[in-house]
Amino acid sequence: MYSEAETPRIVVLISGSGTNLQAVIDSIGSGEMTAEISAVISNRPEAKGLERASSHGIKTHALDHREYDSREAFDVAMMRQIDTYQPDLVVLAGFMRILTPDFVRRYEGRMLNIHPSLLPKYRGLHTHERALEANDALHGVTVHFVTEELDGGPLAIQAIVAIKPDDNADSLAARVQAQEHVIYPLAIKWFTEGRMRLSDGLVVFDGQPLPETGMQLDSRQDNNS
Ligand code: GAR
Repeated sequence: MYSEAETPRIVVLISGSGTNLQAVIDSIGSGEMTAEISAVISNRPEAKGLERASSHGIKTHALDHREYDSREAFDVAMMRQIDTYQPDLVVLAGFMRILTPDFVRRYEGRMLNIHPSLLPKYRGLHTHERALEANDALHGVTVHFVTEELDGGPLAIQAIVAIKPDDNADSLAARVQAQEHVIYPLAIKWFTEGRMRLSDGLVVFDGQPLPETGMQLDSRQDNNS
């Protein structure tokens, strides 16, 4: 899809630790995927992910949402900053802000999010606690294209994690995060290679529409999952 002269450009938005960002940096560094992280932008100046990016020579910007009068004004500033890089893909990697419809529409079909549940279950926060409270047998993580619905949007890929009888929110979160770091680079690779795209509200992979769950990886065979 891209010639060698045109390495796909990614802008990553974060709010916190940036372990998913790190997984993408590592995937590019190891040659697993060909892409350039043009910039990392955080709404929290203290986000650890900004340090991770800087230490790899990636440009960073902190736009503190508390300094803007409204959600709209903040999103306009974000769009201005993002658009200076003309990215092929915007990656939300633990970006904990509700997006305005204008923002979502601007990057429709070229913005991915990762959410720590088997969507459509458990949108929003505290997903691990909620899965445990519901006595679910299975939990996991989803990468999806972003639409105006919070943690909604067509699903690209899910990793399934079994809940163990002695799990607590921390132990479960750790196993889910390990899967996040597998499926997010994979989804980004598929997108940047032109294998996966959004078409009429459906995720199409290698020319075929995916089921509603997206591609599913089952990590239950792994001893550590
Ligand atoms: C990840 O667990 C991601 O799934 C979650 O935030 C965490 C960020 O971690 N995202 C959401 O809950 C989005 N609704 P990281 O900063 O270490 O990548």
